[in-house]
Amino acid sequence: MSIAVRPLSHALGAEIQNVDLAQPLSNSEFDQIHRTFLEKGILLFRKQQITREQHIAFSRRFGELDRHDSLPRDRHPDYPELLLVTNIPEKDGTQSASKYTGQLWHSDLSFTLEPSLGSLLRGITIPPVGGDTMFTNMYMAYDTLSDGMKKMIEPLHGIHTGKRKLLDIHAEHEREQNKLNPPIAQPLVRVHPETGRKALYVGEKVSCLAGMTPEESKPIIDYLVRHATRPQFVYRHQWQQDDIILWDNRCTMHVALGDYADGEIRHLERTTVKGTPSGYYLQ
Ligand code: SIN
Repeated sequence: MSIAVRPLSHALGAEIQNVDLAQPLSNSEFDQIHRTFLEKGILLFRKQQITREQHIAFSRRFGELDRHDSLPRDRHPDYPELLLVTNIPEKDGTQSASKYTGQLWHSDLSFTLEPSLGSLLRGITIPPVGGDTMFTNMYMAYDTLSDGMKKMIEPLHGIHTGKRKLLDIHAEHEREQNKLNPPIAQPLVRVHPETGRKALYVGEKVSCLAGMTPEESKPIIDYLVRHATRPQFVYRHQWQQDDIILWDNRCTMHVALGDYADGEIRHLERTTVKGTPSGYYLQ
């Protein structure tokens, strides 16, 4: 059976049907998937009972994989190419470092000098209700700004940090993260290296705009995030076990909603494909 493509929402996303990621894909199958990825921003593959090795092998078709040196606490102890997104407590009973991962609108690794091209997240244990992820189309967000706003933000840079949900993280961990990942300025508008289209590049981890005070920056950042996450630009994914979602970090943002009951297990594993260099340190 040949590959079928089913749109997931008006704004972005498609489900790719009739593929088994446990088997090697032909070049023409991969080309079709890759074209759809560039067009739709996110791809969903359902019922993929694959091993960690197969997850890594499929991800490598999109480019070199990050080994998560910027997030060492969250990487899988035996597979550095895999990032754990899990609320399963550590062996000593302490809270998992990645329990709240992704609970702010963001694009992966924007706080590094090599922001990610794309990420592939595999749903391994999903709560019976909730645990959803939302994605938004940052091309649409950019295209629908007024010409005046486009002109104003074109030269601006947002300062990105690896911050997570403030109240949920120990101060020591936060200090460690800051040392490992000092703040980085990224352009508010990036040109997608493969499609040539402009996309807004902002998020809830952007603390300030370079060269401006926090007071001056906040209304602009808040407006851009609110605009970019309007419901008509968004797809909300309800996970099933063995789903894999691939997203393009260069033209989408995402957020994990944390909308599930305490005590339910949510365990996912992510590969992160390296992107092209972008941004600069502030000093
Ligand atoms: C992430 O931001 O990579 C995780 C998203 C999720 O857990 O839904």
